[in-house]
Amino acid sequence: MGRLQGKVVLVTGAASGIGEACVERFLREGATVVGCDLAAPTRDLDLPAGVDPAGFVQLDVRDEHAVAELIASIVAEHGRLDGVVNSAGTAGGGPVHMVEAAEWERVLSINLTGTYLVCKHAIIAMLAQDPIDDERGSIINLASVEGLEGTAGGSAYNASKGAVVIFSKNMAIDYGARGIRVNAICPGFINTPMLQGVFGEGMDTVRADIIREHALRRLGKASEIAAAALFLLSDDASFVSGVALPVDGAYTAGRDHHVTELMGLS
Ligand code: NAI
Repeated sequence: MGRLQGKVVLVTGAASGIGEACVERFLREGATVVGCDLAAPTRDLDLPAGVDPAGFVQLDVRDEHAVAELIASIVAEHGRLDGVVNSAGTAGGGPVHMVEAAEWERVLSINLTGTYLVCKHAIIAMLAQDPIDDERGSIINLASVEGLEGTAGGSAYNASKGAVVIFSKNMAIDYGARGIRVNAICPGFINTPMLQGVFGEGMDTVRADIIREHALRRLGKASEIAAAALFLLSDDASFVSGVALPVDGAYTAGRDHHVTELMGLS
């Protein structure tokens, strides 16, 4: 039996990267999955025979009416909403004095306000349903290591992700007594279309630096973030709430000044 057997899960940002990997993993673990994204999916997922594909709705997470309608339709069709992964997001920032206000608003509106709108309507649906094993639902918000630490030029992106971390903790406090768990995942740098877009021309040195700053000396895979999301959605995480979980190859563990190499660690 899959680890999400019988659960109904909504994934935003489902057409690409981490969201797409979540959809694929959750389907393989027996969940009924509905994905949504601003963009249409570009490929069929690699699923074993007998696994039904996910439902998909094209929408903008900044559109409250569309978000409310989607969640109501999931509950109408599947009877409940057990889990949500908020993976819709965008990159963007720069040194603050060079960031146009419109760009600031764009990044905050997708990464923070979009997350808020999906959480709001998911929580309304979860509060209205009976608990199963004391739980009404589990929500996971994609923050970032850049929501835990600053990075040069991070500005709008880092502000949005830091806000998602605290917002997730607050919801964990507000709704814990009603059986809703809320956690954030803080990925390191993950090899997805978003990161490939950031690592454009002339960024080879930056890319190499970033890889070196992960103690595991590589970028993460979307499937490794989906695995963490699977845990947080599953009954194995029934006492885990209010956590901002780094899944980052030890990027945030601390500094490496190469002293151990001087001491002979090869
Ligand atoms: P991605 O760019 O591959 O996928 C993001 C998806 O969100 C895209 O399909 C896009 O169309 C969708 N999206 C953007 N704006 C939307 C909107 N207004 N409404 C609905 N959908 C919208 O990005 P990736 O890498 O999969 O990122 C997923 C999440 O993880 C994002 O929140 C990102 O900030 C976060 N993250 C990613 C990291 C990375 O290195 N790739 C590191 C840390 C966090």
